[in-house]
Amino acid sequence: MKEFVPAPPAIVRNDYESVRELFTKNVVPSYGRFDLVLSHGAGSYVFDVTGKRYLDLGGGIAVNCLGNAHPAITEALVEQSKKLIHVSNLYFTVPQGKLAAELVKRLGAGKVFFCNSGAEANEGLFKLARKFGHDEGRFEILTATNSFHGRTLAGIAATGQDKVKKGFEPMTPGFRHVPYNDLVAMRAAISPSTVAIMIEGVQGEGGLNLALPEYLLGLRALCDEKKLLLLMDSVQCGHYRTGKFQSFQRILENVPGGEKFLPDGISTAKSLGGGFPIGAFWVRAPFADLLGAGTHGTTFGGTPLACAVALKVLEVIEQEKLDENARQLGEWMLKELKRLAETYPSVIKNARGLGFLLGLELAEKIPAFAASEKPAAVQFVNRLHAAGVMTIPAGTHVIRLLPPLNLKPQEAAEGISKIEEAVKSLV
Ligand SMILES: Cc1ncc(COP(=O)(O)O)c(C=O)c1O
Repeated sequence: MKEFVPAPPAIVRNDYESVRELFTKNVVPSYGRFDLVLSHGAGSYVFDVTGKRYLDLGGGIAVNCLGNAHPAITEALVEQSKKLIHVSNLYFTVPQGKLAAELVKRLGAGKVFFCNSGAEANEGLFKLARKFGHDEGRFEILTATNSFHGRTLAGIAATGQDKVKKGFEPMTPGFRHVPYNDLVAMRAAISPSTVAIMIEGVQGEGGLNLALPEYLLGLRALCDEKKLLLLMDSVQCGHYRTGKFQSFQRILENVPGGEKFLPDGISTAKSLGGGFPIGAFWVRAPFADLLGAGTHGTTFGGTPLACAVALKVLEVIEQEKLDENARQLGEWMLKELKRLAETYPSVIKNARGLGFLLGLELAEKIPAFAASEKPAAVQFVNRLHAAGVMTIPAGTHVIRLLPPLNLKPQEAAEGISKIEEAVKSLV
């Protein structure tokens, strides 16, 4: 791949304060933002308006799978935008048809619906489940404690975390939460109204919790037995992040019976467009025509531009074997993060994850953080920003590493060394 490094923009001294002021005055304050004003990126690096460089191990929360300003994405955007950016879904287009076929080829016999985000992809799966159970009066979807399924009204009802629901009650009916990785509890939770189970293969926002192989296989058998749809939210853990196209494929590799495992519906977004907004859900063949003409839609779903970019992202990942890179370099990083946990137990409690979906759990009480009200994860991320590394908090005590799938070994080593420096300063 040819390196593409854009020239840094002229630095205006007061940019930083003036941009923050624009936000304070004009942007809905629904995000707790970090004190960085970002300007441009190149590969695994991002620059702020003062010219400071950061190694981007957050990847825009598992989105920028090819890093920043990747020339193949730029080219796909330019070429497709010269032809056709958007047409209504009242018509056929070549890029949408091709992308659907590529996803079906990788997942299994079924069909794909295109939308714009992860939450919207999950909404589509919720509607699919309701349609599936409608004539029998079944509508309830069971999800896991600590899950995250998006910020729409149904998304927060589906999410197994109270903090996203607070202030927005009453919740959309039809969702209940069951402890993750607990098959006995899931079986006990099924009621005559239950129509589906939705889980993440790896809980990202919930703090990097991996589904156990026997849980996945057990859920499949339970859904078959009780006539429920098994839905998987792969928005964060999918698209090669764990070293396989889907996290369940990675979790179940070499597990007897694992090769036959397939959910009934899968939602995806984030890395699908490598930074260009696109979401999708795949539905297994027997249920693929449940959402017939007129039952579901979205203006911007699967535009030629979004699909052309997503096709290019898939091509680059596979040509450059970036799944293997995520697997191997991810394993090395996890080993290093575990070393940090062993060496500095007063700061790091443990490290876990798969591929490039890694979590570092901080110790319960870190004296240097006691003076501030801010969660330990946020304070740690701030320290890493000072050291020139971007990561993402998950809850109060976990930080996530979700680097681009094309991260280089020397960049991984730089990240670990800077994280170790930050950890040392807290001992
Ligand atoms: C597992 C999971 N599902 C759904 C979503 C929602 O996706 P979006 O923010 O694109 O709506 C996210 C976002 O972080 C996610 O991690």
